[in-house]
Amino acid sequence: MNIIVKENKAEASKEAFQIFEKAIKAGEAKTLGLATGSTPTDLYKEFVNSDLDTSDIVSVNLDEYVGLAADDPNSYHFYMNDVLFSKKKFKESYLPDGLAKDADAECARYEQVLADHPIDIQVLGIGTNAHIGFNEPGTPFETPTHKVLLTDSTRESNKIYFEREEDVPTHAYSMGIKSIMGAKKIVLLAFGENKAQAIKDTVEGKVDESVPASVLQNHPDVTIIVDKAAASLL
Ligand code: GLP
Repeated sequence: MNIIVKENKAEASKEAFQIFEKAIKAGEAKTLGLATGSTPTDLYKEFVNSDLDTSDIVSVNLDEYVGLAADDPNSYHFYMNDVLFSKKKFKESYLPDGLAKDADAECARYEQVLADHPIDIQVLGIGTNAHIGFNEPGTPFETPTHKVLLTDSTRESNKIYFEREEDVPTHAYSMGIKSIMGAKKIVLLAFGENKAQAIKDTVEGKVDESVPASVLQNHPDVTIIVDKAAASLL
């Protein structure tokens, strides 16, 4: 694992963008794996403010809440349109369908999307419990795209985005750990003191399903870019 510590989120996001820019310009990144949440917002701003041509790039997102329509302001479809796709042209963009009628069919469809578009670079955030995507602690490392029951801690962390606590969805579709590990290159970003323990466990802890991101120790090309606060326990 390559660990890079930057002064703050803005500097770290610039560093991350350079990795994407270099690979895209070299023709080495045709498909990007994208994440949502507060962590990658500055990275997406770097894309938007750059003249980098992404019109031939395919994007595949990690996850989506079950039960939310694409135009629901709390859906990850809405987030991605808002921060990136409405401002920067991509060739095609895929996310799980939160309104899919048949969960198993939706997971199978998404695994086919990944088979058709193998991810060259995957951006990841991390939950305070070290979840990646929505792969909560205890998720077997061999899991492909699946429907997830969200933990209380994840619903608690994400409730700030919802008007009422009871509006926070109970389930999500998420690329599995196996799907994430299939990316050729992975860039994980983490900012703030509340991510410090998760980063320590991910980087220095035992590879164990109780710490989902620890699996990244087994991947051949992972760069972790953190601010000083998230690096404070390393
Ligand atoms: C959410 C998302 C993850 C994200 C994580 C951290 O639950 N499913 O993809 O990485 O939590 O979120 P944030 O970046 O807002 O801290």
